[in-house]
Amino acid sequence: MTVPVITIDGPVSSGKGTVARELARALGWHLLDSGALYRVLGLHAYRRGVAPEDEASLAELARHLPVRFVEQDADTVVELEGEDVSRRIREQDVSNLASRVAALESVRAALLERQHGFAEAPGLVADGRDMGTVVFPRAPLKVFLTASAEERARRRYKQLNDKGIGANLAALIEEIRDRDERDYNRAVAPLRPASDAVELDSTTRSVDAVVADILDEAGRRGLT
Ligand code: DC
Repeated sequence: MTVPVITIDGPVSSGKGTVARELARALGWHLLDSGALYRVLGLHAYRRGVAPEDEASLAELARHLPVRFVEQDADTVVELEGEDVSRRIREQDVSNLASRVAALESVRAALLERQHGFAEAPGLVADGRDMGTVVFPRAPLKVFLTASAEERARRRYKQLNDKGIGANLAALIEEIRDRDERDYNRAVAPLRPASDAVELDSTTRSVDAVVADILDEAGRRGLT
């Protein structure tokens, strides 16, 4: 039996991480946070002294990445060599390393099989940039989640404020536009909706409303 997979792709701060988590919880399915794999690899490489441009060594590290996702209470703990790095991998320096290692073709290839391994019964919700186009091209439901740059910047602003970090909204909007430009136009694995993806705009919608839409669509397709 093939395991059903729902893919959620989209640009930065589109809300896909939260939507994917809530959806997986509602369905009782597994969750793949593929961005966390690139983040852990960035951190691992940094700790091992491997330069972000040393593609062959990075691919080798990726093939044997000692990462584990441990479900704990309502959250997932990300472990690198047994150490909880869940918070560390969200820091800015690791985000930058992640985006650099994610631009390397052989790194992406090395992580492909690893990602396929997450598709276990009863089902998988896979969150990322290329889940529907590259990693799970035969997924029976693919979602491409967007929101306006202004709304995504507002969400980011609120997240930072909640953490007590000051930010400038206009600068965040600019940053998000720059990031989009890079993500949509990069040579390797550019961000694209799969041709058969359902495109959802979350600009004016809550997480719950978006999750409800996806659950409805999953029901119509006989996945629930
Ligand atoms: O979604 P995120 O911010 O945790 O992703 C971290 C980095 O990895 C970001 O630069 C985008 C990249 N990424 C990717 O290229 N492909 C994926 N499937 C997931 C993330």
